Amino acid sequence: MLYSNCQALTADEAETAAEALVQAYSALDGTDEPIMNQVLAPADYDAWYDTPRGKWIGDREFRLMWKMIGPSEGETLLDVGCGSGYFSRRFSNRGLRVTGVDIDEETVAYARKRNPNLRCFAGSALSLPFRDEAFDDVVAVTSLCFIDCPKCALAEMWRVSRKTVTLGLLNRHSPLFREKSGRGGYAGARWDTADEVRRRWLHGLVPEPAGVDIRFAIFFPQGGRLARRVEDLLPTRLPRGSFLAVTLRK
Ligand SMILES: C[S@@+](CC[C@H](N)C(=O)[O-])C[C@H]1O[C@@H](n2cnc3c(N)ncnc32)[C@H](O)[C@@H]1O
Repeated sequence: MLYSNCQALTADEAETAAEALVQAYSALDGTDEPIMNQVLAPADYDAWYDTPRGKWIGDREFRLMWKMIGPSEGETLLDVGCGSGYFSRRFSNRGLRVTGVDIDEETVAYARKRNPNLRCFAGSALSLPFRDEAFDDVVAVTSLCFIDCPKCALAEMWRVSRKTVTLGLLNRHSPLFREKSGRGGYAGARWDTADEVRRRWLHGLVPEPAGVDIRFAIFFPQGGRLARRVEDLLPTRLPRGSFLAVTLRK
């Protein structure tokens, strides 16, 4: 709960105050270009996660998804659009048995080399080369934003999952969208909203999800010292973070 002059704020007031804070901070600070697409060689893409800002963003996104999935040690996980394997690696380091799949063969070769524990295959999210319920958990981190029919990819992910599916998306209702959409490393990416996912993507999934959890992170993508401190204070349900995470549970 946020407080103002020692008076408790209502949930709506707290959300408005937090949004104003996000806007004000974003206006103050510049940001370097994040790397989202595959213009870069996989090794260079992966190296971004070793920069201070990349490390911070990768870590926050991973920790949010880990909490939302809540997996037990030894569970199997499929990473759809795994890219260089950064998130696959993080899940594997926490004791999950991870398989990656990506449409780009060069990326798959790199991910295999960089992550010897990872089973990694070339394949499309739209036609996953796995049997029904082959994995406990299935994730796709900023890969569905490059796919024209995200609903089709989600249906495939749902088919091959036994317990959960988690999507990491770009939030159109974020200051980052206003600043960066269509430009630099974000060119070609689609920006989604929680509402669109709820209204358009979930309809028709069989079985119907037993639970849907939607949360946000990276409210201050600049990732400076102040940003990191303030980020910790904000609730992950505040719908203004640039990273939109959705977990569906069977
Ligand atoms: C922005 S990168 C994200 C990589 C990784 N998940 C990460 O967060 O570091 C998007 C990835 O989605 C992959 N991709 C795009 N379309 C795909 C499809 N139809 N099937 C599988 N992967 C796809 C790209 O090759 C790329 O590696």
